[in-house]
Amino acid sequence: MKIEEVKSTTKTQRIATHTHIKGLGLDESGIAIQNAAGLVGQELAREAAGIVVEMIRSKKMAGRAVLLAGPPGTGKTALALAIAQELGNKVPFCPMVGSEVYSSEIKKTEVLMENFRRAIGLRIKETKEVYEGEVTELTPVETENPMGGYGKTVSHVIIGLKTAKGTKQLKLDPSIYESLQKEKVETGDVIYIEANSGAVKRQGRSDSFATEFDLEAEEYVPLPKGDVHKKKEIIQDVTLHDLDVANARPQGGQDIMSMMGQLMKPKKTEITDKLRKEINKVVNKYIDQGIAELVPGVLFIDEVHMLDIECFTYLHRALESAIAPIVIFATNRGKCTIKGTEDIVSPHGMPLDLLDRVMIVRTLPYSQEEMTQILRLRAQTENLQIDDESLALLGQIGTQTTLRYAVQLLTPSNLLSKINGKDTIGKDEIEETNKLFFDAKSSAKILAEQEDKYMK
Ligand SMILES: Nc1ncnc2c1ncn2[C@@H]1O[C@H](COP(=O)(O)OP(=O)(O)OP(=O)(O)O)[C@@H](O)[C@H]1O
Ligand SMILES: [Mg+2]
Repeated sequence: MKIEEVKSTTKTQRIATHTHIKGLGLDESGIAIQNAAGLVGQELAREAAGIVVEMIRSKKMAGRAVLLAGPPGTGKTALALAIAQELGNKVPFCPMVGSEVYSSEIKKTEVLMENFRRAIGLRIKETKEVYEGEVTELTPVETENPMGGYGKTVSHVIIGLKTAKGTKQLKLDPSIYESLQKEKVETGDVIYIEANSGAVKRQGRSDSFATEFDLEAEEYVPLPKGDVHKKKEIIQDVTLHDLDVANARPQGGQDIMSMMGQLMKPKKTEITDKLRKEINKVVNKYIDQGIAELVPGVLFIDEVHMLDIECFTYLHRALESAIAPIVIFATNRGKCTIKGTEDIVSPHGMPLDLLDRVMIVRTLPYSQEEMTQILRLRAQTENLQIDDESLALLGQIGTQTTLRYAVQLLTPSNLLSKINGKDTIGKDEIEETNKLFFDAKSSAKILAEQEDKYMK
């Protein structure tokens, strides 16, 4: 099995509707602070989520499941993302939406399996021979291109590395120069180079370069201790899915010939059950030997009522397996028919036997005051100016319609205020946009009233 080349393939997500959420906003004893970390109200659900986070951290929750249930716009998705924030980037968190399983190319259970494995992490500890230090010099040495022509090629790289104990100058292969460029290494960075593979890892900027006013999000690290050339324990966090992908990739080097080979006959091996079994075997061996540690993460399945009975059966079995993540479901459905069945009506559209093993956390509708607070947070994150009176009006609209509708009125109202030559959103703009757009409830009412005017 190849571990060296495995890079984590975490999905980067840009969920703009939840960017104001930074965590669960609990105090040290796990009590929810009314308005903290971007979350407002919903105290009981937040405290329950806090306990879930604790259980995940203490690794007591593998194979368990939680269901966030509540009406639309009560913060279920927001809570799940807050849990992800609390867990940090060392614990895998894999978000998906129920409807993702429907694809014409991949089997439903295959999609579920892949996401299951994205949610299980493996922390691999290896002692490796490395060269580590702050880069003091980085000079590529060029020669005439041996193939002729005008171009020049890099024949080797001279790199100077400094630690608290001493400095060393290394002469390196041009292939390492490429990885140095990929990692965007500059002088003043702290890096290490693996002696065997030549892999380069940039750890951050040396803290002697830290300035007081720092605009960039740069991580500063202290000057490494000890010798430049040493043995170092390297910790790598990957998910089982990363291992699957890395080992399914066509074998072969990065040179032109093998690239050509791949173009001619694409032989990307698929991730099969057999491959997964093989990987599990190796992983288990590593765990037994103490080289690796299993980090069960979170699989978040939003809109779980979109799954059908086949998926539910599969999930039920997967949850029982030895390596399983914590699964968090969310739904805004009450009693409804389970997809894929004729007439089995069940709470939340989930089979009763699965429902029986989940812990249910309820989210409740917000008060007008809470809505106004959330709207204020949203206005701040979207960088909009709005006066208190208009915020209160918007909060009131929110209680009559939904929170999401009220949030969505912010941007058009801001546009209107710009057109009206103002830099703050006022009551007029809110009233105007509220007239221009309809929320689901009033639209449904109009439909009911004018039924005969629409096509059937
Ligand atoms: N307690 C809260 N504090 C701050 N913002 C919140 C809170 N609850 C919800 N929001 C914000 O309100 C909007 C709607 O919430 P969210 O999408 O989480 O609702 P939901 O319960 O998942 O609804 P649905 O059932 O329709 O999926 C989002 O922008 C979310 O970030
Ligand atoms: Mg949601």
